[in-house]
Amino acid sequence: MGEPYQDREASDPKLRATDLTRTFGRTPHTVDALGPLDLTVAPGEFVCVVGPSGCGKSTLLRIAAGLLRPSMGTLEIRTSSPRPAAMIFQDYGIYDWKTVRANVRFGLDIQRVPRREANARADDWLARMGLSDFAHAYPATLSGGMRQRVAIARALAVQPELLLMDEPFAALDAQLRTILQDELLDLTQSLRTTTLFITHSLEEAIVLGDRVLVMSARPGRIIAEHRPPFPRPRTGDIRTAPEFTALKSELWDLLRKEAAPV
Ligand SMILES: Nc1ncnc2c1ncn2[C@@H]1O[C@H](COP(=O)(O)OP(=O)(O)OP(=O)(O)O)[C@@H](O)[C@H]1O
Ligand SMILES: [Mg+2]
Repeated sequence: MGEPYQDREASDPKLRATDLTRTFGRTPHTVDALGPLDLTVAPGEFVCVVGPSGCGKSTLLRIAAGLLRPSMGTLEIRTSSPRPAAMIFQDYGIYDWKTVRANVRFGLDIQRVPRREANARADDWLARMGLSDFAHAYPATLSGGMRQRVAIARALAVQPELLLMDEPFAALDAQLRTILQDELLDLTQSLRTTTLFITHSLEEAIVLGDRVLVMSARPGRIIAEHRPPFPRPRTGDIRTAPEFTALKSELWDLLRKEAAPV
């Protein structure tokens, strides 16, 4: 393997991780989950992270979301209140006891946005996600894809400065996954939302990312960076481009080495 990966300094990044390391458990039963890892995400940038299962991707995102502390190193997020970071979890994290609309309004309620305005903004996002007819339904009555849309609407309704997404489409069938990828592409390109996006899917990473970072097996470090050669605004049509297939197989070669049993 070549030189260790060095993230180029973004001048005023929204997110900066420096020598970030996370270990779980106590000696002698410790698990080195992550790092050391350096990462910056510039304003408006969409950074995708791929890596083998268990390499520390969710750990990275949970640290970024402030849900977990680093063992060593730092992760700084520069957002100006009242537009916080918003996270979409691997398992959606929506509340089954709240209606769909109340779920979408959740972040706005925390921000103490007045109820009337919060409802209007929630309804606007429900309409964008094709969920208007389900505003008063409970999540248990929705399909997996619809629940995922609720989670996306909830995260975007607060107009986050930084969007953290942990395999948001992993549980969906291929067709819906493609549709939601295209929707997210549209949304993030029009809103210029700074996004850190974890996925197992190379195709997803290439469609969405300004940069695709490849992580090693645990403890996850960044071993490669690729910039998909597709100018913005882009559409899902790039999936059929020869450069797309070439990049996908290059990334797959890297990942296969990391995922191989030793
Ligand atoms: N709370 C915890 N306590 C102990 N070990 C943990 C904890 N959370 C994660 N780990 C361990 O840290 C490592 C990285 O886990 P993490 O969930 O970050 O992986 P991941 O890359 O998100 O995997 P996947 O692709 O399967 O979602 C794993 O070995 C996991 O067992
Ligand atoms: Mg994970």
